Amino acid sequence: MKALPNTFGHWLLTRKQRLDEACAAAFRSGADRLSAAELKAANLSMKSLYAACDADRYTCGGDCDYALAGAGVMYTGHFHGKRVHDSMAVLETLPDMFRTKELHICDVGAGSGAALWAWALIACYLRDIKTECPVHNWTSIDSSPCMLEQNERLWLELCKVLPDVQKVVSRQVPICTDWRTQHTIPTGAVVIGGYLFSREDSTRHTRTARAFASTLQDSGAAAVVLWTAESKTIVMRRLIRQLKGWDDQSPKNLAKCPLDGRMLQCIYAAQSAFRSVALPIDTDWPQRYNWGSYPTKATALAMVRKDQYPESSVLEPVMK
Ligand SMILES: C[S@@+](CC[C@H](N)C(=O)[O-])C[C@H]1O[C@@H](n2cnc3c(N)ncnc32)[C@H](O)[C@@H]1O
Repeated sequence: MKALPNTFGHWLLTRKQRLDEACAAAFRSGADRLSAAELKAANLSMKSLYAACDADRYTCGGDCDYALAGAGVMYTGHFHGKRVHDSMAVLETLPDMFRTKELHICDVGAGSGAALWAWALIACYLRDIKTECPVHNWTSIDSSPCMLEQNERLWLELCKVLPDVQKVVSRQVPICTDWRTQHTIPTGAVVIGGYLFSREDSTRHTRTARAFASTLQDSGAAAVVLWTAESKTIVMRRLIRQLKGWDDQSPKNLAKCPLDGRMLQCIYAAQSAFRSVALPIDTDWPQRYNWGSYPTKATALAMVRKDQYPESSVLEPVMK
């Protein structure tokens, strides 16, 4: 299976403005329900996720509080675009896994649904160019109710931009739970997760990797694909050791996602929401609300259970 044709970039570009408007609309509808104090607290918490540059040295970003009422709304501006960009760069790189047979995909720590957006865009494009692509069942799991509420708003807005989206992916009712809880992952699923592990999870890397590996084994997962910032890859490296008898098919390089640039409509939505409750607007938003860097800085891990993917070619492992 080959990479996507070059025309994907142009196809995306012609939809970029409407995708930005979709994020802005989801931002507004979520923000309308929030008080000034909730918006302010969520914005501050989101900002703690950014890596800081102290005396020319970058430090790893901290954790934010996804339980805050405004977390989903503020994540939309700060990170949804970047995570769509990263997810697309990963999903495009594994065409044999995602484009050959119907899967039950379980997005753990799905947040605002960036990976679903990315897959929906790829699958809608393939449909437009009349290229066959399986219709996956897609379940989002997240422990934060407000992240899943925003996931819902963003999905509804995406459906307006991509009228055929429900023909290319079958979105299941999201599940609000912790991935450590038993029986949440459907049997035989391909488990994916973008930026799932917190800083605390990374600090306790061996414990996190063991727990995640047993969740995968207990649910009978067929494969796992995770991606995150370089500073947090330690859990993924530990996970490889735990998944004995699985093949490492991690991509060496991620695809160059053509979705980049600022999310101007989303910036305006944030400014207007803050002004309407007499909060000062944040001068960082114009820099931070964007579709991500080109190419993505994420690192990806892909592991498959041999009995589920007996014929797939094993790539040179990179996550040792
Ligand atoms: C950094 S966000 C990533 C969201 C999304 N995957 C993306 O790429 O944009 C991390 C998400 O994982 C969720 N999360 C963290 N720990 C979790 C756990 N143990 N179980 C379920 N969700 C979790 C958080 O609520 C948050 O929505």
